[in-house]
Amino acid sequence: MHSFAALSKIFEEKFATRHFPEHTKTLYDPAQYILGIGGKRIRPVCVLLANELFDDITPDAYYAAAAIELFHNFSLIHDDIMDKAPVRRGMATVHTKYGESTALLAGDVMLVKAYEYLNKVDAAHLHKVLQLFNTTAAEVCEGQQLDMDFEHRETVSLEEYLEMIALKTSVLVAASMKMGAILGGAGEGSQNHLYEMGKNLGIAFQVQDDYLDAFGDPEKFGKQVGGDILANKKTFLLIQALQTASAEDKKVLQQLLQSNPANKVQEVLHIFKRCKVDEWATQLQEQYYQKAMQHLEDTPVVSARKQPLKELADYLMTRQS
Ligand code: IPE
Ligand code: IPE
Ligand code: MG
Ligand code: MG
Ligand code: MG
Repeated sequence: MHSFAALSKIFEEKFATRHFPEHTKTLYDPAQYILGIGGKRIRPVCVLLANELFDDITPDAYYAAAAIELFHNFSLIHDDIMDKAPVRRGMATVHTKYGESTALLAGDVMLVKAYEYLNKVDAAHLHKVLQLFNTTAAEVCEGQQLDMDFEHRETVSLEEYLEMIALKTSVLVAASMKMGAILGGAGEGSQNHLYEMGKNLGIAFQVQDDYLDAFGDPEKFGKQVGGDILANKKTFLLIQALQTASAEDKKVLQQLLQSNPANKVQEVLHIFKRCKVDEWATQLQEQYYQKAMQHLEDTPVVSARKQPLKELADYLMTRQS
């Protein structure tokens, strides 16, 4: 059995290879570029951790893990175009460096590569894994569309926000865990517990992502701090602020949402702070973390084997990037 840190290292080393041919260089170098500039590799490690919960890691789990990480990077390239993000992982985004058209294609070909890795999975499991992958991929698109739709809405409820982040982010974490379980020969009940664990952890993860987007340390975060504020993203920070701000702050906030003054990020952050959104973030995260841990608890496997998954969950709650 491996610790979370050990499995992260193993995956990182295995994955650190060129996944694309040399030609056509102008397409494949941009794809390779984003894969090479780091990333926490959380989702593929979820596949491996869930897999090892049930048995020794199978070669198929590595194929599924690689497919998931490629899918994730594909979604990031396209997300950065949609979000007009200049920086990712501390480096220029693919579309900033190579242009939007190339970025779209580099993302597309990465998705194709993900399917190539999936197709290596043993026939005994392929159908189920592929079905899960496809359902999840469509849900991520739905979540991304909702995320953009919400930019143009004045208000969004907390329920709508939670549905949106579940789709754009947590179903992929959930599917990663479930895939590991399927490939590890887990029964249906355990597969579902792992899915729900990932789903709840994924929600807590996106809450942290949204929090860091506003309050992260620019040195560590690797993305443009304040990007969500500039894009009028309806994060829980904004939802909470609109609900709890004083009448005066609320008016200012609404005006800021309709304009783009040079000090927008700073002004919105002041209001966020006055509304104590950080306390709320901790509370929201804790709530979903607890649900995730309950599903792990309820998985019928000896407790000692669950330790690495607990390490992952704790890391996700405290990450700064
Ligand atoms: C970023 O995911 C996209 C979200 C769903 C928030 P990560 O924070 O896992 O990004 P990398 O892969 O580690 O860069
Ligand atoms: C992105 O959410 C989710 C997907 C890529 C599917 P965000 O837009 O918040 O992710 P970051 O902050 O750019 O990494
Ligand atoms: Mg984004
Ligand atoms: Mg986005
Ligand atoms: Mg974000």
